[in-house]
Amino acid sequence: MNSVVRMALAPVAAALGVFALLASLPFAAALQSFRPNIVVILADDMGWNDVGWHGSDQIPTPNLDALAYNGIILNNHYVQPVCTPSRAALMTGRYPIHLGMQGSPITPAEPTGLPTQFKILPEYLRDLGYKTHILGKWHLGYYRRQYLPLRRGFDSFLGVHNGYSGYYDYMAQWEVDGNLITGFDLYKNETPAWENVGRYATELYSGEAVKLIKDHPTGEPMFLYMAHTGVHASHRGRFLEAPQGRVNSLKYIIEPNRRTYAAMVSKLDDSVGELVDALRERDMLSNTIILFMSDNGAPANLDALYPNWGSNFPLRGVKGTLWEGGVRSPSFIWYSQFQTNPRVSDQFIHITDWLPTLYTAAGGDSNTDLPVDLDGIDQWNAILWNLASRRFQALLNIDERERSAGIITKFDTPDPTRRTWKLVVGSFGRGNVDGFFNDVRSPLNPLYDYNRVINCKAYRALTTLFEPTTKEYKMADMRRQATIDCRDNAPLDRNFEPKCTETPCLFNLDRDPCEKVDLAPNNTAIVARLYNTLKVFRRSLVPQIHQPLDLPAANPARFNNTWSTWSF
Ligand SMILES: *[C@@H]1O[C@H](CO)[C@@H](O)[C@H](O)[C@H]1NC(C)=O
Ligand SMILES: *[C@@H]1O[C@H](CO)[C@@H](O)[C@H](O)[C@H]1NC(C)=O
Repeated sequence: MNSVVRMALAPVAAALGVFALLASLPFAAALQSFRPNIVVILADDMGWNDVGWHGSDQIPTPNLDALAYNGIILNNHYVQPVCTPSRAALMTGRYPIHLGMQGSPITPAEPTGLPTQFKILPEYLRDLGYKTHILGKWHLGYYRRQYLPLRRGFDSFLGVHNGYSGYYDYMAQWEVDGNLITGFDLYKNETPAWENVGRYATELYSGEAVKLIKDHPTGEPMFLYMAHTGVHASHRGRFLEAPQGRVNSLKYIIEPNRRTYAAMVSKLDDSVGELVDALRERDMLSNTIILFMSDNGAPANLDALYPNWGSNFPLRGVKGTLWEGGVRSPSFIWYSQFQTNPRVSDQFIHITDWLPTLYTAAGGDSNTDLPVDLDGIDQWNAILWNLASRRFQALLNIDERERSAGIITKFDTPDPTRRTWKLVVGSFGRGNVDGFFNDVRSPLNPLYDYNRVINCKAYRALTTLFEPTTKEYKMADMRRQATIDCRDNAPLDRNFEPKCTETPCLFNLDRDPCEKVDLAPNNTAIVARLYNTLKVFRRSLVPQIHQPLDLPAANPARFNNTWSTWSF
C-alpha cells in the first residue's frame, strides 16, 4: 500500500474500523480511492508573466490562481524550449536527446513521429486501469496510423495533429517554397470533425472535457490530458483569435495584440473553472490531481514564426531558447491531499519527472514497473511530503544542429547563494532572441483583485471540499513568494548580449534568476564540471529524426483538404 493511500484511508479506517470499511464499499469504489484521477492541463506557449500568481495584474486568471494558492506552486519546474520536445518528454519520461526529438517541432507534411518503441504515459496508466483521454494538441506525429493518439494508449481524442490550427476554422498552414499549403486539422478520434467548425477551440475542448467527466464511469480512474492549443498563435494573418466580447472586456490593455492574447489566456482560465466545476459535480474533485504547466515559454519576440504577444519578463529569452524565459514553466499542482499546506515550491523538477511521479501517484510502483533508463525521477513523495527534490541536475537540451546546449546543476553546499548554476552554450535565433522581450510588468498589484479569485468557479468548487485560503494576506504572501523580481540585480541592459558561442556562459540562478551576469570567467572549475557533464550527455545523443517534407504525398488536397495520415 503506498503512502498516499495510507494517508487517505487512515482517518476513515480509524472511524469505521478498516474491516467495516472494506465490507461496506463496493470493491471498485474502494479501489478508486487508491487511484486518483489525473488531469494534466498543458497550456501552449504561455509565458511566465501571463498568470496572476507570478505577480502580473494584467491578465485575469482567477481559476488558475485559485488552484495555485490552494495547491503547490511549482516555481522551479523546467520544460523543453519548444512544443514537440516538451510533449515527447512528458509522454516518455526521457530527455528528447534520447529520442532524437531535441530539435525543432514536427512540421506539417514531415514524415516522422515519436518513436513507437517507447511506451508512453497513457499506456502506463491504462495498465493501472485508467480511462485515458486527450483533448487538444498531439504534435507527436501522424504520418502513419501507428503514431496516432488512439494507437498510443488513449481511449479518445478530440484535437489537432499538428502544432496549431485556427481557433474557429481549424485550418493549419505551412509554407513550402513560397506557397502556403492549407488543410483542416481537427479530429474526433480518427475522423475529421468538420461539425465543430465555428466553435472557439478552447471552449470546444473544455465542453468536451465536461462531457467526458459527466459520462465517466464511477469506480474507474480517469487520466485526462488537456493539451490546449491555447494560447499558441493561430495561422498567418490572424495570429490571435478570441471571442470579441472577451477582448472588449480587457480594454485597459492598450496594445491591441496583447489585449487579444489576454482574452485567449482568460478563455483558457475559464476552461479550467468549467473543468474543476464538472469534477465537483461528479464528486470526483476530492480524488483528482490537477497539474498545470506551459509546454515552453512565450514566443514574445514579434519576429517569431508564430508570435503570441505573451510575456516571460523578467526572465530572459523566449520560446525556442534555453534561457529561463524559454524553459522555466509557469506551473502548479493541486490535489486535495495537499490542501492543508499550500506552498510555493522551489523543488527542482523537470518535465520528464511526471511520468514516474504520476505513475506512483496512480498507485503504480515506479521502481519495479518502469524502465531503469528513464531520465525522469519519481518526485511524488517529495511533492506530497515536502521533502527535498531528488533531482540535482537537469539537462535543458543539446541541439546538435543549432549547436546549443544548456544544463542546470544544484550543488550541495551550505551557502544558499552558491547552489544553483546554469551553463549555456551557443546562441538562439542567430542571436536575435538572447535578450529580454515584452516587459509588460506593472508594479505589484494595483489592479489584482483577490475577490475575483474568491468568486471564480474553481474557488467555489474547492469550498465544497474544505475551507480554501480566504485570507487575502495568505494569497498575497504566496504570490509574493512566487514572483521573481530582478530589479535589485544588475540593471537591465537591453544591448547586453552574453556571447556564449565561443565559450560557455555561466549563471548563478540563486542570485541572478534573470541571467544578467555571466560568471564563467570567475568560476572556471564550475564551468569545467558542467561542461564535462554536457559532454557525457552528448555521447548518448540520438541524432534528430527530422525528415524532409513528403510532398505532394502529404498534401491536404489529396485528402479532402485535411492534414491526414498519408503513409500506409
Ligand atoms: C568576476 O571577475 C572580474 C575580474 O576578473 C571582476 O571584475 C568581477 O567583479 C567578478 N564578478 C563577480 C560577480 O565576482
Ligand atoms: C470534405 O470536406 C467538406 C468540407 O470542406 C466536408 O463537409 C465533407 O464532409 C468532407 N467529406 C468527407 C467525405 O469527409
